[in-house]
Amino acid sequence: MNGNKKFSDMSVDFASIIRDKKLGRALTKEQLRIFADGAGSGSVPDYQLASLLMAIRLNGMNAEEITQLTLAMRDSGDVADLSSIKGVTADKHSTGGVGDNTSFIVAPLVSACGAPVAMMSGRGLGHTGGTLDKLEAINGFNAYPSIEEFIKQINDIGVAIIGQSGEIAPADKKLYALRDVTSTVDSIPLIASSIMSKKLASGTKSLVLDVKTGSGAMMQRLDDSIALAQTMVDICKLSGVKVTAVVTDMNQPLGTYVGNGLELKQSIDVLKGESKGALYELSLLLGSYMLVQSEVAKDIDEARKALINALSSGAGLAKLKQMIEYQGGDSRVCDDTSLLPQAKVVREIKADTVGYVESMDTVELGLIAQSLGAGRQKIDDDVDYSVGYILPVRIGDYIDRDTTLCVIHARSESDAIACENRIRKAIKTSPTPVKPPSLVYAVITEQGVLRYN
Ligand code: URA
Repeated sequence: MNGNKKFSDMSVDFASIIRDKKLGRALTKEQLRIFADGAGSGSVPDYQLASLLMAIRLNGMNAEEITQLTLAMRDSGDVADLSSIKGVTADKHSTGGVGDNTSFIVAPLVSACGAPVAMMSGRGLGHTGGTLDKLEAINGFNAYPSIEEFIKQINDIGVAIIGQSGEIAPADKKLYALRDVTSTVDSIPLIASSIMSKKLASGTKSLVLDVKTGSGAMMQRLDDSIALAQTMVDICKLSGVKVTAVVTDMNQPLGTYVGNGLELKQSIDVLKGESKGALYELSLLLGSYMLVQSEVAKDIDEARKALINALSSGAGLAKLKQMIEYQGGDSRVCDDTSLLPQAKVVREIKADTVGYVESMDTVELGLIAQSLGAGRQKIDDDVDYSVGYILPVRIGDYIDRDTTLCVIHARSESDAIACENRIRKAIKTSPTPVKPPSLVYAVITEQGVLRYN
């Protein structure tokens, strides 16, 4: 590591930056640039980066610091210029959950209504699933076209979902890996700057954020989720990005299908009009804000109507097909979802208790899917697109011994049995009726916070 040379040339003492934050002082724009550049280039040793991360975790940051850190992290790598795309490009981002596959519903529907959709997505992280892994369940799908091809695709057909290349926000890549092993993930300034640096580097000019709250979310307490959403809205405001943040429930999987190919199937079923529920409702809500921000609809009601029309006319499904074809994938999956990867073992399990579903350990439900092979335990693990489970029960449902609790899709009988035991433990019942959780808790815009709970 040659960092000491670089910093002595610039007369910078990195320890003084750590000391300032340790003493609770606000860091300057220059200090934050040095931090992000040092992380991105590898010129500051890990022990100094980690010390500063902990000082930030303990002492926090003000709004100006968070924005400056975000911009510095954005500039640590390539910044996509999407200005040659016609219209106001729409984008959405979820802070991560289980059974959360709104992207495949929202992107084609919003595009079918006339707004250009430009999404750069990520892979699964911890117990949460990732959009890219789900898209790659489609045979032949190319998730990594060049930026020029990405722009051309959006100008040609109005929608593209691709992966973020290695050169997008390298500072975040380094800092995220350090946070993971230094107990500094749960910091609102660090989460917000991590997410937003990648979004800004992706060229986003209009963003709808889906900030999860509850037992399967990064922030389990509603107030923390609202604070995270507010912080990201503030960053957008200071960076000239149109934004709405919706704080939504993750006390149970959003959709009833969990696993890459299975979630894709449920999205296609929603676009065919064959599946409703929370996944459908949230997709319409996120899509509505996207259409309003892209100036295609004048308000949320008009946007919702346009989305429902695009769904019932089949225009949304046709758009998904067109996108898959453009990116080299086998679009026949839209007509026949049995062409998606199929698991060797499919095992239905019945409930072994009688009562009302009271709670779900949603992190555990995500980890169960991961252990079946749907997610990675190590960064270079392969993902099995065929495995996962269908969980038809929801919090508040009455169940008895005739109720199908879960249908497990596994590689082997032994995997299915191990999964069955863990799923039974993750779902708690109560003898008395239970109120289902709300789907939406708050909407945060530049104008303020609207709380529904
Ligand atoms: N997702 C990110 O990209 N970064 C975080 O810090 C947390 C979630």
